[in-house]
Amino acid sequence: MRNNMGLPRATALESAAFLLDVFLPTAAKGPLIRRPKAEAGAERLGLDDRAVRRMVKLARKYRRGPLMLRLPRRQQAVVLHPEHLHYVLANSPEPFSPASSEKRAALAHFEPRFVLISEGPERSARRALQDQVLDAHSPVHRLAGSFLPIVREECEQLLQNVGNGSASESFELDWDDLIEAWRRTVRRTVFGDKARDDHELTGMLAELRGNANWSFLKRQDTKLRAEFLARVDDRLKTAEPGSLAFVMASMHPGQDAAPVDQVPQWLFALETSGLATFRTLALLATHPEQLAAARAEVQQDETERRHLPFLRACVLESLRLWPTTPAILRQTTREVQWPDGDMGTGCGVLIYVPYFHRDEDHVPQAHSFVPERWLDRNDSEDWPLVPFSAGPVFCPGRQLALMLTSAMLACLIEKGSFSLSSRHALDPQSRLPGELNNYSLRFTVAGNQPHPSPEQAF
Ligand code: HEM
Repeated sequence: MRNNMGLPRATALESAAFLLDVFLPTAAKGPLIRRPKAEAGAERLGLDDRAVRRMVKLARKYRRGPLMLRLPRRQQAVVLHPEHLHYVLANSPEPFSPASSEKRAALAHFEPRFVLISEGPERSARRALQDQVLDAHSPVHRLAGSFLPIVREECEQLLQNVGNGSASESFELDWDDLIEAWRRTVRRTVFGDKARDDHELTGMLAELRGNANWSFLKRQDTKLRAEFLARVDDRLKTAEPGSLAFVMASMHPGQDAAPVDQVPQWLFALETSGLATFRTLALLATHPEQLAAARAEVQQDETERRHLPFLRACVLESLRLWPTTPAILRQTTREVQWPDGDMGTGCGVLIYVPYFHRDEDHVPQAHSFVPERWLDRNDSEDWPLVPFSAGPVFCPGRQLALMLTSAMLACLIEKGSFSLSSRHALDPQSRLPGELNNYSLRFTVAGNQPHPSPEQAF
């Protein structure tokens, strides 16, 4: 039966303000690969804080929802309340499909048959494959024994490389240093040691992701995509034991699962995990109490870095403060009836994650670094914190990402003492900013030989 009350509709002015304050800055920063200048601009102008303020304003005014925007030629809803977020995510992929038109257009630039933009039986086959290879439901990946030594080696190599170039006892570490080491870790984890220095593969993907940032506004470079996917296919065929690709090959996936198209996301999303690592390092470098707790955990660890709950919580908290996927997008596959009204088929639904993560009316200490909140968190709690999304489409790489990032952080803080040398106000007394530009973060590092006690100042 139709609900005639109708979903609330934003005014034309509110819709324009939403586009200006929330949508445009998010799109400008680059949904598929970050644009450093846009990121720096967003940080300088406080655009992310402004976006959250805009959302809070809308949520206070519209108690019902989801809120329909007034846009030409497009049905678009914005989720303002937790019960609606839970409903959308729990009822994905049907009727809330993650394969929204703009996401399809964007991801088709480099992974046209990727699970997130697939539907029906194909989606099911691709998701099952991802779940199995990534061990989505296990906190420790079955290949931890191969992956964690790689993280350690690359971490040690990183510190040695940057340290060697320095005449003094301390040296500088910046984003370029970290991301190169992290990319080597990623290629080894995905394909094996022989892929360690395949910079060309990463370069091709970066170019395709750059095109994907423009979604349907940019023509697909089908030649480059074909070359890239052929190279991924070659690497899959020669995958080394102990790599994700080898696990996948041993499962003999059928054509429906489109194995080659599932791999670019591993490279891309694992790289994004490096961003979370760097931001978490910046938080630890400026929060002595949490650093001491992290160091104590590392010193007492008997799991060879498999289970570092506090460091994992630190990464989750950095993703709460600065989610790397700020917009979760859905599109309805049929008409959906809400208590407040009906939503048509093909309606876009947007969950703007930073609003849910930073709304100070609902999130205690919303602008502070409080990793402890993740230690006893129950995901079915009312107020949603969803850096990895939730429901049946939740990120299957969540546990793997947390295991690798926490292990890298463990190695870094064990081997070095880091202090932030770039100008970012991240200390415990400050309100943490809505944006943290990873490209401008810099650290001064001093080696830890012998290892300091956890109580020692950072
Ligand atoms: C900081 C690290 C990461 C974050 C914050 C993250 C977050 C997300 C989010 C928000 C989604 C979208 C889910 C939705 O639309 O509801 C997603 C999807 C996905 N992620 Fe991740 N991710 C991360 C790392 C990884 C890694 C390391 C992998 C694999 C190696 C991975 C594989 C995937 C896949 C395959 C999907 C598609 C799921 C589907 O369509 O069912 N992610 N991720």
